[in-house]
Amino acid sequence: MKRGKIEAATGRLVRRLNDLGRVTDQPGRLARTFHSAAMRRANTLVGQWMRDAGLKVKVDAVGNLIGRGEGSRPGAKTLLLGSHLDTVLDAGRFDGALGVLLPIVALGELRRRGVQLPFAVEVLGFAEEEGVRFASAYLGSKGYAGRLRAADLGQRDARGLSVGEVLRGASGRFQLPKAAHRGRDLLGYVEVHIEQGPVLESRKLSVGVVSGIAGQTRVRLTFRGRAGHAGTTPMSLRRDALAGAAEFVLAAEACARRDPTLVATVGTLLVSPGASNVIPAEAVLTLDVRHARDATRRKALQQLFSRARRIARERGLTLDWRQTQDDDAVACSRELTALLARSVRAQQHGRCLELTSGAGHDGVVMSAMAAIAMLFVRCRGGLSHHADEYVAPADLEVALRVIVDFLERLATVAVT
Ligand code: GLV
Ligand code: MN
Ligand code: MN
Repeated sequence: MKRGKIEAATGRLVRRLNDLGRVTDQPGRLARTFHSAAMRRANTLVGQWMRDAGLKVKVDAVGNLIGRGEGSRPGAKTLLLGSHLDTVLDAGRFDGALGVLLPIVALGELRRRGVQLPFAVEVLGFAEEEGVRFASAYLGSKGYAGRLRAADLGQRDARGLSVGEVLRGASGRFQLPKAAHRGRDLLGYVEVHIEQGPVLESRKLSVGVVSGIAGQTRVRLTFRGRAGHAGTTPMSLRRDALAGAAEFVLAAEACARRDPTLVATVGTLLVSPGASNVIPAEAVLTLDVRHARDATRRKALQQLFSRARRIARERGLTLDWRQTQDDDAVACSRELTALLARSVRAQQHGRCLELTSGAGHDGVVMSAMAAIAMLFVRCRGGLSHHADEYVAPADLEVALRVIVDFLERLATVAVT
């Protein structure tokens, strides 16, 4: 693409990332969660950008935003490009949004230049990936891929509303959706995402391709003991749920520290009844364990489960261990990734680095439906899930060039 044109397109992408970054449920910080008012506003805004790029727009039963453009060949296969539009709390403006907005700008550019792709494209803005409102992630892509199950609908948010109730909404009706496509009708699923780590920066590269995504398991643990008077109950007679939870938090950290490639996080902790002069009766915490090898992740979980049971036994507590998410590691498609890597080398002075992703992505779920490939984009300081998340416009420009190049390359090789 010509220099001036790509610069203008990059400027458009930067402005849109900034505009979408202001669409929030919480004044002063970015937060958009499944089916919130801000998510509806985000769908309206991004839907308009999709229309401007010539795509036909709809929102499916789960709340996913879908922009479709037909190919020049009737009955041609479809290439999916996308990521999620929900965010964590106090989020940056690139995680998820980049993978939705960049393909829209790329397709808009091709349209402006009069290029018609032989295959159909769908840009997907998934309604939920982060697992913030409900304990389990990927509700959007699961709905799109026909992998949403009755058990997913039973998950409840902090207000006690279930996923099923939210999806039934005012109409009172919701059916578990079928997959949006048959696998054989798809060319693949490509997701652009910030790296969320420091590797590209350390290698002085704007972009890289992903070889696979680490597996992850999330668990909600509840330790229950007995409330009591903080002044009168001797230490030996207490059944303090928070003290048990605290022991578990440190055990999880120690377990993961023994293997430099394993990570374990306790990200939330709720204590009841929650008064400074009452012994905690209940502590609810979430555990998130990840590793690129499924066997290593499972072994760590088994060890942590045994440890939690021992803590409960020794402290006179009960333990409820509830797995809310369990996704094995996923490999990206060798063929699709090789094609993407050619575009990366063409736009990055012959250099392409392959990385594994420790973060979860919609590609995990989409891999059940289609071959997947991912483009990672360098982010400042490797920082993500943080308000200061930042991608330099120069790196956005390289990523945009790569995706335009990839679409044109795919047009020449795809069996449509
Ligand atoms: C999603 O960002 C995750 O990896 O938790
Ligand atoms: Mn993400
Ligand atoms: Mn994220």
